[in-house]
Amino acid sequence: MGQQPREQWGTRAGFLMAAIGSAVGLGNIWRFPYVAYENGGGAFLLPYLIAMLSAGIPLLILEYSIGHRYRSSAPLSYRRIYRPAEAIGWWQVAICFVVAVYYAVIIAWAVRFVGFSATEAWGNDTESFFMNDFIQVSDTPGAVSGFVSGVAWPLIGVWVVALVILVLGVRRGIEITNKIVLPLLLVLFGLLVIQALTLPGAADGLNAFFTPDWEAMLTGKVWIAAYGHVFFSLSVGFGIMVTYSSYLRRKADLTGSAMVTSFSNSSFELLAGIGVFACLGFMAANAGVGVNEVATSGIGLAFVAFPEIISSLPFGGPVFGMLFFGCLVIAGITSLISIVQVIIAAVQERTNLGRVQSVLLVGGATALASILLFPTPEGLHFLDVFDHFINQYGIALAGLVLVIFISWIARRLRVLEKHVNSVSSVSLGLWWRAALGVVTPILLGLVMWDSLRAELMSNYEDYPTGFLLAAGWGVAIGAIVFGIVVSCFPWKRADAIARADARQATDQDGDEPAPLAEPTEITETDAARKEDR
Ligand code: ALA
Repeated sequence: MGQQPREQWGTRAGFLMAAIGSAVGLGNIWRFPYVAYENGGGAFLLPYLIAMLSAGIPLLILEYSIGHRYRSSAPLSYRRIYRPAEAIGWWQVAICFVVAVYYAVIIAWAVRFVGFSATEAWGNDTESFFMNDFIQVSDTPGAVSGFVSGVAWPLIGVWVVALVILVLGVRRGIEITNKIVLPLLLVLFGLLVIQALTLPGAADGLNAFFTPDWEAMLTGKVWIAAYGHVFFSLSVGFGIMVTYSSYLRRKADLTGSAMVTSFSNSSFELLAGIGVFACLGFMAANAGVGVNEVATSGIGLAFVAFPEIISSLPFGGPVFGMLFFGCLVIAGITSLISIVQVIIAAVQERTNLGRVQSVLLVGGATALASILLFPTPEGLHFLDVFDHFINQYGIALAGLVLVIFISWIARRLRVLEKHVNSVSSVSLGLWWRAALGVVTPILLGLVMWDSLRAELMSNYEDYPTGFLLAAGWGVAIGAIVFGIVVSCFPWKRADAIARADARQATDQDGDEPAPLAEPTEITETDAARKEDR
């Protein structure tokens, strides 16, 4: 098969928009406000900032540097660093598959709620409307027992949009979409927050959000929450940033880009916190109760509490609702395409299939799994358990294992640091190696251990053990097994690995070529070690 030139971003701004579009997602809008509130309110901002500086940003720079230096999807990039690390890449591919199948469903709900907002179709009982009328949730989890067409058709729509963007490619699809919708998201969300701040009771909501509970900071749980959230929110640990940075040109300010991405993501998150708590303050004032009694998270916040807020607005409820759910749809779609792109890039490289074929095959299979499992009465139970287990024992654990491999087993931090410094505006130093090699493994290791202990002591959300074994542990462990098994199949050297080597040597911008990787697997690793010394 003829060599296809690797796709590239059109501009640095295009790459930045795509990276920010991936980071800013459903997690920012509904997750951050509640996680912050539950873990000390204003005081949470300190652990959040420390987690961001000690692990989030260093890991983001690491992922950018790997993608940029090795110019390949996650599995091949890791393989070229250290042969056995390819398994981590395929593990991340499996994680992205699991996240994508349920992430799309939440976007589909939001699509329907844009329409429901126009007439405030939920009536007086927003919880019953969502649970019983709309998703028709079953009382118990288990095998799929039916099909909910009201969820299925918007879900099919979401997948069609996502796959069309992906078929168009990195530059014409992902980059252009992000360049158009990200500014739109910012404007719409800005309008939403301004409207929220004018509501009666908004100040009480902000007081509750920002009043620091310093005692909370002494508990490990708060720090665990901060690290966990920073990973999910920055899109690190999925292989997304490795994939996206592999389409960068040789001239790329990696540290500058990481600063811009993380600053934009955190700013959006803070804005979301302000907007959401202003609304909750209004809701509490309306009901004559404290903000703590109305604060809720995730699905409850977006699809139960917000409709209630929308209905009780003095004026402009439908517009406010359409803005809110429209923002969820936009933020969700730009993150969804980044998640699916990880799978497509990896399969494309592994199989030599063309872009369109890969999107149709891989994207089609992911969409099919999503459409078969989630628009069902049991869908919400699957979503809840998939989300919990793949976040705790997928994304964060894969991030931890990657850091340990790169810093302690392959010992490539110095090589990557040199690479970053050769192209970036702000140079890395000892702090970066210390953050990744020492601080992140220790803190994240403790976080993992603690959450694993809690997990084994009681069933998550009191779900039956059999269900948790199949849909929770089964999926999380299945992703690891998938990674190991796929990485055991031999590559044909003539294929993608050789092309990746050539890419690394022959820079398309005509700049200084990066050092050539050695031609065989064994010497690749040897070369890495030599360079490291
Ligand atoms: N970073 C994305 C989010 O926050 C996945 O939803």
